[in-house]
Amino acid sequence: MRQGYFITIEGGEGAGKTSAIAMLRDWLEQRGHAVTTTREPGGIRIAEEIRSIILDTSNTGMDSRTEALLYAAARRQHLVEKVIPALEAGQVVLCDRFVDSSLVYQGIARGLGLEAIREINRFAIERWMPDLTIYMDVAPEIGLARIRADREREMNRLDLEPDDFHRKVREGYRRVASQHPERIVTIDASLPQEQVYEAIRRCLNHKLPPRV
Ligand code: TYD
Repeated sequence: MRQGYFITIEGGEGAGKTSAIAMLRDWLEQRGHAVTTTREPGGIRIAEEIRSIILDTSNTGMDSRTEALLYAAARRQHLVEKVIPALEAGQVVLCDRFVDSSLVYQGIARGLGLEAIREINRFAIERWMPDLTIYMDVAPEIGLARIRADREREMNRLDLEPDDFHRKVREGYRRVASQHPERIVTIDASLPQEQVYEAIRRCLNHKLPPRV
């Protein structure tokens, strides 16, 4: 039985997902919720191994459908091993990227089509859709400039895509968000960090009230 609350965080490169998740974890814990934070692709050993194949900068010859299937495979394993047990234990799960990343990156930016990506992901995730998705929207020029300024962060195969790819990613997210207004909340991630955090907390205030 499902009792927890499943939140996914989405956005293009440099949108600030990682620090937003850290903020949200602390805030939810202060409100008395048990929280599991995780990320895709990865989060557990088998999925981290798939991640290293997908994101290896030397794998430039990877076919788009291979890429889509590997993301779906990593998603399945991570869901079964980590997300479902945490939800069944009544936890709030905060996941950095989920199925919307595949819809946008593989379905739209790589041009495989939304329907094909929905289909393989239906097989991978069955009924386990997020209760809420926070989409952090920022222009790719701003996001990529943030990444390039942050020397600590590893560059991966997708960061090396041309700017046009990142523009398609943003348009893709806006399209997918407009198709699912009941689940996806768009946050303006170009604002100063404290305002972004405040907007995120506001959308969870009523959904996850304090338990203490
Ligand atoms: P990561 O280093 O985790 O990037 P970020 O910090 O931006 O989340 O690398 C994940 C990359 O994989 C990112 O470029 C988005 C891409 N991706 C897909 O193309 N499809 C997917 O289904 C997922 C989960 C990620």
